[in-house]
Amino acid sequence: DTLDPTSLRTPIVAVLGHVDHGKTSLLDKIRGSAVIEGEAGAITQHIGATAVPLDIISTIAGDLVDPDDFDLPGLLFIDTPGHHSFTTLRSRGGALADIAILVVDVNDGFQPQTLEALDILKRSETPFIVAANKIDTVPGWNPNEDSPINATYDAQSDRVTGRLDESLYTIIGNLSDEGFSADLYWRVQNFQRNVGVVPVSAMTGEGVPDLLAVMMGLSQRYMKAEMEIDVQGPGVGTVLEVKEEKGFGTTIDTVLYDGTIRADDQVVIGGMNDPIVTEVRALLQPRPLAEIRTESRFEKVEEVSAAAGIKVAAPDLADAMAGAPVRVVRNRELEEVVHEVEAELADIAVDTEEQGVVVKADTLGSLEAMADALSEVELPIVHAEVGDVAPRDVSVASTAEDPKQQVILGFNVDVLSDAERRAEIDDVTVFTDEVIYQLIEEYEEFVDELER
Ligand code: GTP
Ligand code: MG
Repeated sequence: DTLDPTSLRTPIVAVLGHVDHGKTSLLDKIRGSAVIEGEAGAITQHIGATAVPLDIISTIAGDLVDPDDFDLPGLLFIDTPGHHSFTTLRSRGGALADIAILVVDVNDGFQPQTLEALDILKRSETPFIVAANKIDTVPGWNPNEDSPINATYDAQSDRVTGRLDESLYTIIGNLSDEGFSADLYWRVQNFQRNVGVVPVSAMTGEGVPDLLAVMMGLSQRYMKAEMEIDVQGPGVGTVLEVKEEKGFGTTIDTVLYDGTIRADDQVVIGGMNDPIVTEVRALLQPRPLAEIRTESRFEKVEEVSAAAGIKVAAPDLADAMAGAPVRVVRNRELEEVVHEVEAELADIAVDTEEQGVVVKADTLGSLEAMADALSEVELPIVHAEVGDVAPRDVSVASTAEDPKQQVILGFNVDVLSDAERRAEIDDVTVFTDEVIYQLIEEYEEFVDELER
């Protein structure tokens, strides 16, 4: 292969799945660090990104990954907490992730957030594989630390493999119910047409070599062309999270998916009102193989190339929105870049009507997903915005003519206590949930009650 590896960017891998199905543990196993132990109650609070270089992937995967077969530099994993929506992970024209791992607990099977993740993968046409996790919990399992799946299968009794196969075929059946043709990964010939299911244990590491081999193979085979980027070009990214950081004020955790960002760059960022034009004050990189969200000691760097997770410190970031675009200006006309950011924001903007419900969501991507879902059930929106439910949202909702629309639907957001009080006084009903279709179900139940 004649391609210059330095011009290929790292594929972005989103790890999705229902709460507690083992997303963080799986990454933890891969990283060989103990991020999970630093997590309050082992619940992931924020989104983080972790780059795993090819040589480490090949060390873990052993015979299954020969580094000479690949020219991609590795994989950038993004851990999405189960209660947080994958919809944040958007980029210009679609999904931020190039590829995804959907983690499903073999015992627990498909759950609401599994279905929600599948729905988003379908809509964004993101290729993915399923990690059927926690195989070590099958009764009678004989663990073989870090073993590839075929070797550990051979070490199990027929009864044990029979039980596991049963769970795996249930998952394959569930995928088929959702319109995906799926099979155990070693039976899949064409990963574009069929979803591969990889049995793994994040606890014992069994099947992890297979998982990494399949991810590398998929990336190399189907996405290499898209990984060729202009590494020296002005950076383009997406805000994952807006965060206060001691000593730096408001910062944005960003996934850079194209070009480079430098410590002296001027940048344009999607804001609540207008695009924010500001200068980078510091680029903060977590140490290699460390997690953005648990890393307290950052390293200041001069330049970062895609794909990477990077914390950007700059003035005037208070209005930045999760899910919004980030663009480096560098040698271009500022006005042109501002227009690009405006166009991207307009692309995500939600159509509102004279009358309807108020919608709040945690990120631009999730606001967009909410608007899609509400238009499917033909529920009009009067006002849609990123952020927690605030008193002014209650004021807007209280003006609805139809009592069925004196409602606020909040996805992945909190209700400020002032707003709660106002809602009670103004007779506005506030629904919040972390799964879109459940939020809509709650609303529909409310309407049924009203009409009864
Ligand atoms: P959220 O971030 O809250 O959505 O959860 P998560 O999907 O990241 O799950 P997490 O990795 O925090 O794991 C949840 C629990 O399952 C923890 O107690 C893990 O120790 C346990 N667990 C994860 N993977 C495995 C596995 O393969 N085997 C066993 N036995 N336990 C596992
Ligand atoms: Mg987690």
